[in-house]
Amino acid sequence: MTLDIARIRKDFPILDQQVYNKPLVYLDSAASSQKALSVLKKEEQLHLEYYGNIHRGAHFMADQATNDFEAVRDLTKDLLGANSREEIIFTKGTTESINLVAFSFGEAFVNAGDEIIVSEMEHHANIVPWQLMAARKGAKIVVLPFDDHGRLEIEKLDELMTSKTKLIAVAHVANTLGTINPVKQIIAKAHQAGVKVLVDGAQAISHLKVDVQDLDADFYVFSAHKMYGPNGVGVLYGKKELLNQMPPYQSGGEMISEVTFQKTSFNELPYKFEAGTPNITGVIAFGEAIRYLQSLAMDEVAAYEHQLLEYATQKMNEIPGMLIFGTQKEKSGVITFNIEGIHPFDLGTMLDKMGIAVRTGRLCADPVMDHFQQPATIRVSFAVYNTLEEIDQFIEALKKLVAMLS
Ligand code: ALA
Repeated sequence: MTLDIARIRKDFPILDQQVYNKPLVYLDSAASSQKALSVLKKEEQLHLEYYGNIHRGAHFMADQATNDFEAVRDLTKDLLGANSREEIIFTKGTTESINLVAFSFGEAFVNAGDEIIVSEMEHHANIVPWQLMAARKGAKIVVLPFDDHGRLEIEKLDELMTSKTKLIAVAHVANTLGTINPVKQIIAKAHQAGVKVLVDGAQAISHLKVDVQDLDADFYVFSAHKMYGPNGVGVLYGKKELLNQMPPYQSGGEMISEVTFQKTSFNELPYKFEAGTPNITGVIAFGEAIRYLQSLAMDEVAAYEHQLLEYATQKMNEIPGMLIFGTQKEKSGVITFNIEGIHPFDLGTMLDKMGIAVRTGRLCADPVMDHFQQPATIRVSFAVYNTLEEIDQFIEALKKLVAMLS
């Protein structure tokens, strides 16, 4: 292991502070990770030195900003192992990326009576856009279930996929259960039946090595804010031949080629899908987040986070009444749980007062909550900057609170 976690923590100065006079233990990176210092510095440098609107200006600063912005497209292409830069569309986040595909793929390829398969463990962002599209097109949503360990029952795809199936929408890593889904296998199965696959990579991209060509994903989406980058920036990777056949999602400046009052023709990829002035600052700063991730060996990041996961899981299981939702072996650094007889909001609020930042609630995944019949849960999630000592602090706080509230 060559990862130097103490060194890494210095790149996230926000972590080194006290809240309520207690050392901060940030265990909510699945909601949003903290931003690397190089990301914050890039935002400042852009605004102090060379900010200008991109693709439009005939001046030095606009050119420099455009070059930096487009360089991030190349960086993103390399990060994902994509075939070409035209396949990288910048959006404002995973949610917008999925909405774009649901709308635009729906317009191009989905007809009345068609079906979209959505896994039961999806975040609402990978359910609702498909429902809205299905309602518009007269199509149907079919659910691919998971078992009580949080394993996606992919063998059921054989019966669920029919000649009407157009697309499968599935998380690479589930935000609640932490399950790492066998997306390569799902995609291979889907492609045999001529079905396309959208992979929600929001919880995977900063934890696993992703290669979209190796996966053969048709669409792969994620957000910068969960990968040590800025919020308000997302990526849609899509295969060029599909994106070329899909109509624009939003319209306005930049996505056009020519406009008259009679007719408008559209720009080429990727600009066809990037209407209006984009998040210039965010995308340029996102480049630093990619560079940061690339400076870490992803297999070591995954191994280290797995160590955190196993250590925390083992300690948590020693606490009486502990219920962990999602117990798959192939799991990322996310633990969603409840303790019998204790309300998750009470526990979450009191953990906060002890300096431990966790997420509580339904985690934007009502179907998962319903599967386990939980009104709400607590979630801890790890990133590369978390430590075993922080897990000890969390466990100690949890034990104290359980003794108090039971
Ligand atoms: N999708 C984010 C989460 O899982 C907000 O917390």
